[in-house]
Amino acid sequence: MSAREQMDRERFFASLDSYFERTLAEHGATPKGVDWNSTAAQQLRFGQLLRVVDPGAPFSLVDYGCGYGALVPYLEQRGLDFTLQGFDVSERMLDHARALYDRPGAVAFTSVEEDLAPADYALASGVFNLRIDVDDDAWTAYALETIDSLDRLSRRGFAFNMLTMYSDRERMREDLYYGDPSLFFAYCKEHCSRNVALLHDYDLYEFTILVRKSESSAPTPAGR
Ligand SMILES: C[S@@+](CC[C@H](N)C(=O)[O-])C[C@H]1O[C@@H](n2cnc3c(N)ncnc32)[C@H](O)[C@@H]1O
Repeated sequence: MSAREQMDRERFFASLDSYFERTLAEHGATPKGVDWNSTAAQQLRFGQLLRVVDPGAPFSLVDYGCGYGALVPYLEQRGLDFTLQGFDVSERMLDHARALYDRPGAVAFTSVEEDLAPADYALASGVFNLRIDVDDDAWTAYALETIDSLDRLSRRGFAFNMLTMYSDRERMREDLYYGDPSLFFAYCKEHCSRNVALLHDYDLYEFTILVRKSESSAPTPAGR
């Protein structure tokens, strides 16, 4: 049985949807509506993730866990030449995303992972944080499987962020997952590509991992 089945994915995604139903009802399609503290914090995360992208050439992107689609105006404001497939398990989020940012031929949104075509890059901001009541081991296994999906969905590279275990203990919440950066760095290095960067220097209680892929970047198992 896969990690996703072990943690009863259907039940988890239903709880996730109820959680974001509340945040959206309170804050609408805004950073607080997807549980970020501010626009600045949301955009700081986008900036870190986009370090995996070569901005000098047109590119295609999968935004995995796209929420209400805030990455779209962020990319547009920077004058980047891109196409984007936004994926989210919450139809509620996607209703907002479609109403705000559907761009025929350039930006589309789906809740069906199987409908996604591999793109140049896959980015995931905030999909590993809220684990509600899933235990640590099941969540770690689920996160690694999701990283495999990001790998499959990207040709040139992918990037994701995660709350860090190096957070102030008194501020940590039971319903959030705080990952071990070295575990996820090692996994990406050994399973996805030899070119992996761990960014843990941008003043949020989290880290970002960038995985760059090319024909010569086969992963390197440790000590071999
Ligand atoms: C913290 S919000 C961030 C949204 C967006 N990435 C942003 O930064 O504005 C996380 C989003 O990921 C979605 N999500 C969580 N786990 C997911 C999964 N396994 N697959 C697809 N979407 C997921 C949630 O429904 C939610 O909309």
